[in-house]
Amino acid sequence: MTTKSETGALEKYVGRPFLSVNERVWKRLPKSAAATAPYHAYGTFLHSLVCQYSDRNQYHGTFFLRNRPELQLLSKLGAEKAKAGALEIAVLGCSNGAEVYSIVWTIRKEHPDLKISVYAADISPDILEIAKRGVYSLKANDLMDSAIFERLSEEEMQAMFDVQDGRVTVKPWIREGIDFQIADAGDPKLVDRVGQYQIVVANRFLCHMAPPDAERCLRNLASLVEPGGYLFVSGVDLDVRARVALDLKWVVAPEAMEEIHEGDPSVRGDWPWRWWGLEPFTRTRRDWGIRYASVFRIGSADVPALQL
Ligand SMILES: C[S@@+](CC[C@H](N)C(=O)[O-])C[C@H]1O[C@@H](n2cnc3c(N)ncnc32)[C@H](O)[C@@H]1O
Repeated sequence: MTTKSETGALEKYVGRPFLSVNERVWKRLPKSAAATAPYHAYGTFLHSLVCQYSDRNQYHGTFFLRNRPELQLLSKLGAEKAKAGALEIAVLGCSNGAEVYSIVWTIRKEHPDLKISVYAADISPDILEIAKRGVYSLKANDLMDSAIFERLSEEEMQAMFDVQDGRVTVKPWIREGIDFQIADAGDPKLVDRVGQYQIVVANRFLCHMAPPDAERCLRNLASLVEPGGYLFVSGVDLDVRARVALDLKWVVAPEAMEEIHEGDPSVRGDWPWRWWGLEPFTRTRRDWGIRYASVFRIGSADVPALQL
């Protein structure tokens, strides 16, 4: 049996140099290689090593209009789920608010008559303060090293923000109806405090937890979805998500599955080199119909669970 220090030495002197040589070679591969089965198989092996050697930690990184196909489907399913013209959404791990404001803007633009209320939560009080204010610098700041506006066109910038002296403020009609709160998505008592929602969004924070913690948190998140409602969950280890989905008999919402999976260039581009990197959508996998699904209908008796 190997001891902890032997494993550490193996990682330092063999594993990491092996990965660093591979990364250099990988980045020089021709684009045509990406469509081949050996590329996918070897990438999956490398990604498993990266995950094994990484001490995961949380990031606040986010973008406005981060994944457009995901926002489109959210808007469509949200309108379908609304009751008497009202829709209640919960967004967990909302960071500086970019995702929440993008969701509200997309839905209000397409369904102006819908009354939307959003419970938006993050575990970090500092980032939540920024979310509440809805005022951003055009340059990256201390809590955010990413360029949060880089996916917006000039017209979209004008439609969403008032811009003055290098600061951008989310327009009042987009900020309406959002309740920002500090909360831990893994708290089993959360549902008692905040109730259930027609749509729950839990994107891109579970991948920064150790897999057993992510799995516990994901199971907990499902309790926030009212029966027949939808859970949007991307940015989580694919094995963890598929296992929980099958175990809890979630029903896959198949629309735009591939477009959503491929819809966020930063996470797709980081595979296999970062733990949050997302493998290519691969239809030759027998389990692709559950592995790449990120939108699920939960707790509804009228639709049969996915059988593999
Ligand atoms: C990478 S950002 C993702 C932001 C946004 N959801 C998106 O997709 O762009 C992850 C956020 O999740 C928050 N977070 C991490 N663990 C959390 C938890 N247990 N409960 C609530 N928020 C959490 C972090 O503080 C961080 O702001």
